[in-house]
Amino acid sequence: MNLKHIAIIMDGNGRWAKKRGLRRSAGHREGAKNARRITRAVGNLKVPFLTLYALSTENLYRPQDELDGLISLMRDYLKNEIPTLLENKIRLMVIGDRKYLPADVKKSIDNALEVTSKDYKMTLVLAICYGGRDDVIRAVKQIAKESDVARITEKKIAAALDTCDIPDPDLVIRTGGEYRISNFLTWQSAYSELYFTKSLWPDFSPAHLKRAIAAYERRERRYGRTDETVGDKEQGPSKKMGKLR
Ligand code: FPP
Repeated sequence: MNLKHIAIIMDGNGRWAKKRGLRRSAGHREGAKNARRITRAVGNLKVPFLTLYALSTENLYRPQDELDGLISLMRDYLKNEIPTLLENKIRLMVIGDRKYLPADVKKSIDNALEVTSKDYKMTLVLAICYGGRDDVIRAVKQIAKESDVARITEKKIAAALDTCDIPDPDLVIRTGGEYRISNFLTWQSAYSELYFTKSLWPDFSPAHLKRAIAAYERRERRYGRTDETVGDKEQGPSKKMGKLR
């Protein structure tokens, strides 16, 4: 299966809770539980990278009690999940701007990254305080310090993004019935296949995941080319580029 990286926008926790007369925080708790279940499922399917959009830069404008609840879920995750990550040979990575996070969470992240970095079969990337535009801005600021503007290339920008060591997502899934990308992996998803489902995130099961992957496998990825030229090895400007006459 030519699928290296699945990225998921886990939407619908609030509605899941509302339908049951529960507080939004209960939806997020159930959502975190489902993040564990889907991580296991992705591992079983031997897909080496999974990115989960746990908190966006825009989510930082949510009510304080909701943010407190989300951070508390992350604290629990970082505290309790390490044995499971190690047991299942999962390396944790985090993307996003950590400057917004409380010091103890930053410390737990550093620890989790370190202890899971050695022996792994799969990488779980948590996007926390992450925004696609923010990622690009931070990358450009870094490049501007080091590089001549005329020498800026696609490769240099990609290498300065939070995802520099991670392949671009092949498949981006959004649960919860909305049809948008919401500032998730903006640069990296330029050629991703998109899959939208009405299932609310806590209800999105391994069977739903398999359905999304089956839909992905039916797609033909041409990267802006045609059936005839898609097989050309070189991507981007090359000898094969046509002339505009
Ligand atoms: C969107 O649903 C979801 C979020 C803003 C948070 C996602 C976070 C989790 C699932 C917890 C993950 C934690 C770990 C540690 C992996 P929404 O609240 O916008 O739902 P709604 O559209 O129904 O209101």
